[in-house]
Amino acid sequence: MTEQLILAIETSCDETAASVIGDADGRPRLISNVVATQHEFHERFGGVVPEIAARRHAEVLEAVIADALKRADAVFGDLSALAVVNGPGLIGCLVVGVAAAKSIALARNLPVIGVNHLEGHIHAIFLPESGDEPVFPLLVLIASGGHSHLVLMRDHGQYEIIGRTRDDAAGEAFDKAGKLLQLGYPGGPAVAALAAEGNEDAFEFPIAVLNDSRTGERSWDFSFSGTKTALARAVSMLSPEQLEVQKADLAASFQKAVVRALIDTTMRVADEIEVAGLAVVGGVAANIRLRSELTEQAQRMNLTLHIPPIQFCTDNAAMIGATAYYKLRTGAMADLSLDVDPSLALANW
Ligand code: KG4
Ligand code: ZN
Repeated sequence: MTEQLILAIETSCDETAASVIGDADGRPRLISNVVATQHEFHERFGGVVPEIAARRHAEVLEAVIADALKRADAVFGDLSALAVVNGPGLIGCLVVGVAAAKSIALARNLPVIGVNHLEGHIHAIFLPESGDEPVFPLLVLIASGGHSHLVLMRDHGQYEIIGRTRDDAAGEAFDKAGKLLQLGYPGGPAVAALAAEGNEDAFEFPIAVLNDSRTGERSWDFSFSGTKTALARAVSMLSPEQLEVQKADLAASFQKAVVRALIDTTMRVADEIEVAGLAVVGGVAANIRLRSELTEQAQRMNLTLHIPPIQFCTDNAAMIGATAYYKLRTGAMADLSLDVDPSLALANW
């Protein structure tokens, strides 16, 4: 039997990505993975400009798909299915990817599989590149630019969100810190790079401890707005010269607080509920400080930890293809009526 090949497309934000995923004995096999980043086009605006992002996707998607196929030594005729992110994300950006996937599906008479972007991030840990195959139930921390969720995953397509941010997402907080420290866009990698040169104990930034308003018990939600406000206040009290001198310390102290908040809550939940493993995914999972501290804490608690290699933490299409791989096996496919939803919720199937 010939190997089933899925062409996956990701255009939800500011990366235009395509990947070809095959089958490796019951696990998704990464055959090719192409990511064209748009950061240089948004940098001077200090954030993603939706209109520019959508137009750029339309300009480069065809070439990105062609490159992914070429690297996989495949042509459209070899494909078994199309996979595409249909939300959450920027509406104009999602439309470009979904229209492309549906066009190819129509022309080639192939099924098209809609993939939730967050579910895609989770499935980065199922790529063999991320290590041993995870065992369920899994506690997954999704920390990206748009979302911070704690998810209990019982199986592919079986999710329960047990904690979420009440204000900023973790990546968004990093991006805002980057702005406050005049480090450009995206802030996360820039703050992390500068933090490596600073003293993380120089400033004491607060970490939110939240209670459930109904039960009064400690909640499993996150909040980063207080940490961000404390950084803004510290920056406002410094002269431009002082800021230059203390920037690295501010970055390191801010990073420490955000990482601590993410890890404290995650480990507390892991202690309270029975899980077979722990995972952290999404753009912020690229953060070295988060990766190393989580690795240490998981070892201490004797928990198996899954973290994708850095290139599969930030947006990519391989993770979308990996999700589609499992959906294809269960027949959870869409048809040409597949529509975009900018606020698509993580749903079970
Ligand atoms: O998952 P992702 O690529 O896109 C979304 O789905 O949002 O995440 C992007 C986010 C951005 O906020 C970016 O600043 C953050 O991830 N990020 C980082 C690092 N690399 C990317 N945050 C902290 N440290 C990093 N090394
Ligand atoms: Zn993402």
